[in-house]
Amino acid sequence: MNSVFADRWSPRAFSDEPVTDEQLAALFEAARWAPSWMNNQPWVFLYETDGPDRAGFEEIISEFNKPWSTNAPVIGLIVSRPGLEGFMARTAEFDTGAAMMSFTHQATMLGLYVHLMGGIELELAYDKTGLDPETANILCAFSLGHMGDPADLSEKLQGRENPSDRMPASAFAFKSLTPNPRPSND
Ligand SMILES: Cc1cc2nc3c(=O)[nH]c(=O)nc-3n(C[C@H](O)[C@H](O)[C@H](O)COP(=O)(O)O)c2cc1C
Repeated sequence: MNSVFADRWSPRAFSDEPVTDEQLAALFEAARWAPSWMNNQPWVFLYETDGPDRAGFEEIISEFNKPWSTNAPVIGLIVSRPGLEGFMARTAEFDTGAAMMSFTHQATMLGLYVHLMGGIELELAYDKTGLDPETANILCAFSLGHMGDPADLSEKLQGRENPSDRMPASAFAFKSLTPNPRPSND
């Protein structure tokens, strides 16, 4: 396995080093090449750095997630557009997740980190973005930046500032038509 997969994790401490326009362009370029049903590309990324919309993005993030969003140089929302995709609406979120993952792995390759945040004030997010829930699905917020110093976090959060473990692949990958392991012939 390429190290990019295990090197990616979701830190809570971000440094104040900015993400450059060139880096951002590379991340969106990576997202651009994600697969989607019939190449519909149903993803929309909304983001801000230190510009006029920064306060609006920060307001949308739920209280719990504030520590690792207000300190990140880039904050954003990832949106899918099921309302525009006809029968492909069924996989619009799947496709959008693929684009987000491409974005995230490109970030890892550039030494940057992404922290996804499903915890947002959803109604406020629709209100502030002007998106229509009939045609757009606001999925998640994200923080993006360089890893910061865990010492800047509260003591409780410092203890959680580590990559997390995973269940083994054998728990979710089955060489079978059904997810139930085939009875062994032994
Ligand atoms: C759809 C989605 C929503 C998430 N929402 C939150 C969130 O609201 N707050 C948070 O701190 N992390 C959130 N995360 C990050 C996960 O908790 C994290 O990816 C998971 O614990 C695995 O840790 P790792 O990314 O460090 O490997 C979210 C991740 C995903 C994919």
